[in-house]
Amino acid sequence: MPVSPASSDLEPIERASCDELAHLQFMRLKAVLRHAYENVAPYRSRCEAAGVHWGDLRSLEDLERFPFTHKSDLREHYPFGLLAVPRAQLARVHASSGTTGRPTVVAYTRADIETWAGLVARSIRAAGGRPGDMVHVAYGYGLFTGGLGAHYGAEALGCTVVPMSGGQTQKQVQLICELEPDLIMVTPSYLLAIGEEFERQGRDPRGTSLRAGLFGAEPWTEAMRAQIEGRFGIDALDIYGLSEVMGPGVASECVESKDGPVIWEDHFYPEIIDPVSGAVRAPGEPGELVLTTLTKQALPMIRYRTRDLTALLPPTSRSMRRMAKITGRSDDMLIIRGVNLFPTQIEELVLATQGLSPHFQLHVRRSGHLDELAVLIEPRPELAGERAAVLASMLAGRIKTLIGLTAEVRLCAPGTLERSSGKSQRVRDLRTDG
Ligand code: DLL
Repeated sequence: MPVSPASSDLEPIERASCDELAHLQFMRLKAVLRHAYENVAPYRSRCEAAGVHWGDLRSLEDLERFPFTHKSDLREHYPFGLLAVPRAQLARVHASSGTTGRPTVVAYTRADIETWAGLVARSIRAAGGRPGDMVHVAYGYGLFTGGLGAHYGAEALGCTVVPMSGGQTQKQVQLICELEPDLIMVTPSYLLAIGEEFERQGRDPRGTSLRAGLFGAEPWTEAMRAQIEGRFGIDALDIYGLSEVMGPGVASECVESKDGPVIWEDHFYPEIIDPVSGAVRAPGEPGELVLTTLTKQALPMIRYRTRDLTALLPPTSRSMRRMAKITGRSDDMLIIRGVNLFPTQIEELVLATQGLSPHFQLHVRRSGHLDELAVLIEPRPELAGERAAVLASMLAGRIKTLIGLTAEVRLCAPGTLERSSGKSQRVRDLRTDG
């Protein structure tokens, strides 16, 4: 049975009325706009160019008139050009998982770190964690915000932390078996690799002490939730965040409802926009998530374009709005012969095909003028060749019928596709321009 928090365990703001929350947001929004305007020269110039001043904010809706912040702004002003406090006031920096070139550096004051820890603590509590629980942290430690973000949050809640970090999969299994943690925090794809190691050692992943896990840092589907819950016998909750805005714990799911991460709206103001025109969309409509930090000191972010595609949903277990599971990032969307494709669509179909393992990769090539999609997939180890080939053609058939794409499904020997110990790399785009 999931442990749902007694309402007396919640922070008052988690139960506040809409009006109370909106009032707090407005006061904080005004303060953060002023803080950014007065202390971040590039943001002030951009506001001046757009003809807006922080004092123009008279309602939450007025935020629409303010300019966006993009990831490229952080790169352009690398490393510290967007700081709103003197460098000496920073307690810590992290860097986002950039692929090439300059990393994106983000920074925190001591108070920012405390706010962050408090929000991760709130997220762990929403997942059913309580003081005294033991939390196994298998997000990577270091510049990535996952490990240290989870760590400080678990400590702030009064939990015992096992700072395992990513990798050393055998040791992950050993520590889970011997230290008997209650909760695990890890990317969903790495949890699956840990599950395989359990099986390789002849241990049942359902037999552990784990009660629940907080999974994030990459998109994952409801089908993956069912797979994880079935294989590990735990509650699987979705935790969302991004380094530019803070790190893990911008939004997180409640164990009693499992209906999408609750955005901790007392600290982040969400909008959904049309990713092309930038226009704000009506409540419930899908689009790109834009976040404004309401309390960050070192690196306030005004209307940050996350590129994450989702929708805002009405409040249920808390007074704050939820976000729908992310379908993907606008920059992860593949366009193959004119068809838009997110890796999560393939994940759903793979998991719906019993007998296939959840490990897959998408390779896109150009042959002449045509794009070709190959899905590399491993069958479950116990399946014989012929049966596996039937499953492969079944998957190709589903991709054709449900997504409208012809894909070659290529079977790989069990255990041969690369496993990541952090964020998974599902796509290899081998198309060269021209
Ligand atoms: O991934 C922070 C994090 C760590 C979140 C641990 C949750 C758990 P970045 O490396 O900056 O920060 O990557 C942020 O990862 O914009 C999304 O595209 C993706 N992402 C994060 N959480 C989720 C999630 C961390 N729950 C980028 N579902 C974000 C889907 C997610 N995508």
